[in-house]
Amino acid sequence: GASAMWGGRFSAGPAEIMARINASIGFDKRLYRQDIAGSRAHCRMLMDTGIIPRADGEAILTGLDQVLQEIEDGRFVFKTALEDIHMNVEARLREIIGPAAGRLHTARSRNDQVATDLRLWTRDAIDGLDGALQGLQRALITQAEAHADAVMPGFTHLQAAQPVTLGHHLLAYVEMVGRDRGRLRDARARLNESPLGAAALAGTGFPIDRHATAAALGFDRPMANSLDAVSDRDFAVEVLAALSLCAVHLSRLAEELVIWTSAPFGFVRLSDRFSTGSSIMPQKRNPDAAELVRAKTGRVVGHLTGLLMVMKGLPLAYSKDMQEDKEPLFEAVDTLALGIAAMTGMIGDLTVHRDRLAAAAGAGFSTATDIADWLVRALGMPFRDAHHVTGAIVKLAEARGVGLEDLSLEDLRTVEPRITEDLRLDAAGSAAGRASVGGTAPDRVRAACAEARTRFLAE
Ligand code: ARG
Repeated sequence: GASAMWGGRFSAGPAEIMARINASIGFDKRLYRQDIAGSRAHCRMLMDTGIIPRADGEAILTGLDQVLQEIEDGRFVFKTALEDIHMNVEARLREIIGPAAGRLHTARSRNDQVATDLRLWTRDAIDGLDGALQGLQRALITQAEAHADAVMPGFTHLQAAQPVTLGHHLLAYVEMVGRDRGRLRDARARLNESPLGAAALAGTGFPIDRHATAAALGFDRPMANSLDAVSDRDFAVEVLAALSLCAVHLSRLAEELVIWTSAPFGFVRLSDRFSTGSSIMPQKRNPDAAELVRAKTGRVVGHLTGLLMVMKGLPLAYSKDMQEDKEPLFEAVDTLALGIAAMTGMIGDLTVHRDRLAAAAGAGFSTATDIADWLVRALGMPFRDAHHVTGAIVKLAEARGVGLEDLSLEDLRTVEPRITEDLRLDAAGSAAGRASVGGTAPDRVRAACAEARTRFLAE
């Protein structure tokens, strides 16, 4: 038969396929807590303004509590015929309290209802992710402290560039994650306005109190424009953009773990808990978790572009297209949460092969810049000339098939006779010398770790 919720003008119910394409209960049941919280706030306001009788309001509030309990206990039967979470909850409420349930939807539409629910859900999701990202920062900072002085190659173009310390390298990700948290915080502040009371699109003739419902739900204020309130999904897009960027950061770190765990590098070892074996090659320890963190980034970014495509052609106000906002957001949040947890585990468990890092740190003529800097400091050479002279020294080492530190003073003097034994080349000294603000010197890194604890882990 026709829908009990909107079937008044219909004589037949929807085709099976219509019901199937229309229903969102399969995924929006996840909004039940927010939906009931929104309904409770709306109901109280309707009572307080005298729009509905107090006794009916009390019955609605009690009934909603029971619905919530049934859902949390897993006793609630979700029905596809009732389309979505909003109508599933209301239909059950009617079963429990009778016709008074019909008063709850006064001065409200599913359009402002769903917009409210999704903002509340997104706010909670952001709070959860913030805590998880802080946990990742804690794991990174802890490893950075342990390896503040572990010299390793710093790369550009994945070619040996200059020695850095592992602590410094890990703190770079702490900063990225800090900005990711900041972006989510910004999005949270912007989305924290209440659509409730916008009704279908135009507002309502009932004397509602939007400030009261906004406050009850922890929103900063009611949204200013009713059309915007029911049509806007830029908050979801903005959060997906922030999640995408965060996922890209995780993916880059994951890629580094894949490289660092490979045999030619052998910089670090993932714990057994975060490695997998091969069914044919017994020697293998594969970094599957890191690879999957890298791969799943594609989903998150895909959901961002997916939702942008859903929204791009929609005239104001609500269109059913917007029902498609939820799965991308839910899935992106779930995927990122999983990736953060896996990365936090991998970093926390990481074994660092400091000897391998140190051996690699001096390879690839990585101390060449130190020669050039010495020529500038000791001989007063302009840097461009020093660069040229050093290039000739590198060429000599390369021709001999040795490292820069293997060249004798006599060798160096064939290129530049004013070089003295003061010029000492080693990777650790090179890193220790780079003590400028934000630099890689171990003392700097130790101080940066302490600062990072205060900036990111204090609250
Ligand atoms: N399930 C719907 C959604 O997610 C709820 C809003 C329905 N509104 C409507 N006018 N049909 O968007």
